[in-house]
Amino acid sequence: MATGDDARLSRRRLLTGTGLALGAAAIVSTAGAQETLPEATTDPDFHDPDETTAAQVQSPPLSSEPIPPGTTDWNWVRGQWALDWSLVDLAAMLFASNPRLVRNAIDRHRKGLDASPVTYLSSRNRPLQNAARAAAGAYFGVKADDVALVESTTSGIGLLYAGMDLRYGTEVLTTTHDYYVTHESLRLAAARRGASVRKITLFDHSADATIDQIVGRIIANIRPETRVLALTWVHSSTGLKMPIRAIADALAPINAQRAPLDRVLFCVDGVHGFGVENTTLPELGCDVLVAGCHKWLFGPRGTGVIIGSPAAWARVTPTVPSFLAPNAYGAWLGAYDPGPTTGARMTPGGFKAFEHVWALTEAFQFHTMVGKKAIEARTQGLAARLKLGLSNMPHISLKTPMDSRLSAGIVSFDVAGLSADGVVRRLRALNIIGSAAPYSTRHVRLTPSMRNTVEDIDYALGALARIKQG
Ligand SMILES: Cc1ncc(COP(=O)(O)O)c(C=O)c1O
Repeated sequence: MATGDDARLSRRRLLTGTGLALGAAAIVSTAGAQETLPEATTDPDFHDPDETTAAQVQSPPLSSEPIPPGTTDWNWVRGQWALDWSLVDLAAMLFASNPRLVRNAIDRHRKGLDASPVTYLSSRNRPLQNAARAAAGAYFGVKADDVALVESTTSGIGLLYAGMDLRYGTEVLTTTHDYYVTHESLRLAAARRGASVRKITLFDHSADATIDQIVGRIIANIRPETRVLALTWVHSSTGLKMPIRAIADALAPINAQRAPLDRVLFCVDGVHGFGVENTTLPELGCDVLVAGCHKWLFGPRGTGVIIGSPAAWARVTPTVPSFLAPNAYGAWLGAYDPGPTTGARMTPGGFKAFEHVWALTEAFQFHTMVGKKAIEARTQGLAARLKLGLSNMPHISLKTPMDSRLSAGIVSFDVAGLSADGVVRRLRALNIIGSAAPYSTRHVRLTPSMRNTVEDIDYALGALARIKQG
């Protein structure tokens, strides 16, 4: 059992205890950079006189100077967070803390609202919500009008499927690998509307799944009555990243044979790729992507987006009245039809935590400033290092593919003889924050992000090697 003293073990000491096969292996450690690791000593009692605690290793720089656009100084990036640096946070996939730019924007708006809620709100609400939609659109390659603001992935997925035209006799195709939020939203929507939901399995072992196998199984299962394909970009159980573009390409000839309203609408829970992958909606090729912005995007808590193509909006009806659509009140007062669905009409109205909604713009600004390409390389580079280290440990069975075409930032695995929750508990005793996925088969998940360092990864690897021994 881990003790409190374990938490004070040095990173160096943990590494030495592992006999990490990382040795002198060259591993991508930062944006594209190759790093040569020193050979680990094999003496388990080796004690570094300069032994530092995990907390000391984690200390961030204090700089608050603005970084010039396009500069990738990961120490500066890390210094933008106010995390508890005595912890190694490898759980970015769960719930975000915000970088300084976002924290400052929330504070500024909160002060304004506290001073005079009505006057502060009235002049700002529409422009600031529309600015956030424009920022999301610019980030993901669509027009502002194709972005709806929601409070989370869960509410976005719920609103999307609740509003979708799912008549009796049609079906939604999804998979056994998708998350509770997709399955439950589809079950509720289908029960109301009369459509059926079919779940297929795409692979037996995530770690060695192939793109051809995944695409082949999906396409073989599209039936004449299939109207919606509901998938998840990066599975939060195994960390497998779905080949969205390849699936969209294989769907295109099927859809080309169908009338517009009979086409298979390709909808994706994108939360674990959004803020990690350097891509856009047109590049991905799906019709709708829903993502919370309070995970990998490190945006304000309680924010998310539905990003859809105009063809997709035509198949969806809003559920919650919008305050944002230009003619929302006019249509009500004039008793006329408000017109086709848009991102604005899909944005639920009501008074809300506006300081968070408005500060979403700064979250996109922060990502753009650091650079989408650099963030992807950093996140995938750290995840690759973690996967490589874990793959060399015989007591660990990696669930996430090594191939970067089939993986993003989530790294999932099992430890022989221990439950996933047991491993998470032991890691927490060592100040490492991971999580176990709430699926019928639970795996341990560690999810490096741009806030983490190579030392964080090696500290976690050392701890996991040691879990075996103790
Ligand atoms: C695949 C997936 N979708 C949705 C969610 C929920 O996201 P949100 O908190 O934005 O609703 C999670 C996990 O929290 C998830 O793993």
